[in-house]
Amino acid sequence: MKKLEELVRPHLLHLTPYSSARDEFSGKNGIFLDANENAFGSVLPEAYHRYPDPHQHKLKQKLARIKKILPEWIFLGNGSDEAIDQIIRIFCVPGRDNVIVMPPTYDMYGVTATIHQAEVRKVPLTTQFEIDYEGVSRAIDKYTRLVFLCSPNNPTGNSFHRESIIRILQNFEGITVIDEAYIDFSSSEGFLNDLNQYENLIILQTLSKAWGLAGLRLGIAFAHPEIVRIMDKIKYPYNINESTQKIVLDALNFENRKDEMVKAILDQRSSLELKLKDLAFVEKVHHSDANFLLVRFKDASRVYEFLVNHNIIVRNRSKLVLCENSLRITIGTAEENNALINHLKKFKNEP
Ligand SMILES: Cc1ncc(COP(=O)(O)O)c(C=O)c1O
Repeated sequence: MKKLEELVRPHLLHLTPYSSARDEFSGKNGIFLDANENAFGSVLPEAYHRYPDPHQHKLKQKLARIKKILPEWIFLGNGSDEAIDQIIRIFCVPGRDNVIVMPPTYDMYGVTATIHQAEVRKVPLTTQFEIDYEGVSRAIDKYTRLVFLCSPNNPTGNSFHRESIIRILQNFEGITVIDEAYIDFSSSEGFLNDLNQYENLIILQTLSKAWGLAGLRLGIAFAHPEIVRIMDKIKYPYNINESTQKIVLDALNFENRKDEMVKAILDQRSSLELKLKDLAFVEKVHHSDANFLLVRFKDASRVYEFLVNHNIIVRNRSKLVLCENSLRITIGTAEENNALINHLKKFKNEP
């Protein structure tokens, strides 16, 4: 791997970050007249008149225990989308550098790179939805800063072969980002335990899926402390708001509940898969390691319209490469999945 100093945009290496009032004095007790807050309180009964901890100490400590990693290896973002944005801003010189994405995949890597004027080099997955390693190698040049891979992948649902990921980690000189948003639903292990072997690896996870906290917006990037330090340096000072910090701190006590929900989702995934496969107009239900199924129909747009007309909303992914006639269906509750199947049984494929 190249040295971090060679990969980070030079002006950021020496950036003096904004120093907030809470950076300069972080004690608990005192008369706080340093941050221009409203000393009389907030208009709500809850105490929201103080700025939140810019370093999210308590939250990082607790997450670190759960994930069995040191807090210095954790960056917290306003959703993983913030982490994706930070990573591109840190490593890509606008108008010069490029990133590799592997469609069909989560769109935000490409969209965010485009916003920051980084060239997006698309190397489609193989027809088996696996990494095209040779294609990736060919696409990389001296200005390639980032390779984004999403495993389990959205919208295909599969995890990539571990060896292909390791091959990229071992041979790519820049930063590899593995998005593990759906890792809790996967039968294969993620890369968190391997993080200390790879200085060029950033792993993204989120509380939006298995933990059921999408509305609170908390995304996590795990990486070498040198990378985390730079991410922390360029983030907005108070990027994780007080209510999110408080509520998530509490929510993290309920890991068992998360595990129970994951189990219920996996049970529903298996039963929905079988029921979908029984329908004559379903051509393929792809294997999934995530909380959704990618399903190929004879005519996906007609099925999509039919479902919308019955108030069942799924995601039509038919326009994406390798996803012709495919709908992405999130696993619902037993009742929701039954409603879906009962309606689909009434769908007529004939025009
Ligand atoms: C692969 C992947 N990464 C990240 C996200 C967004 O996560 P967050 O809610 O933490 O921004 C999604 C959301 O659907 C996703 O599919």
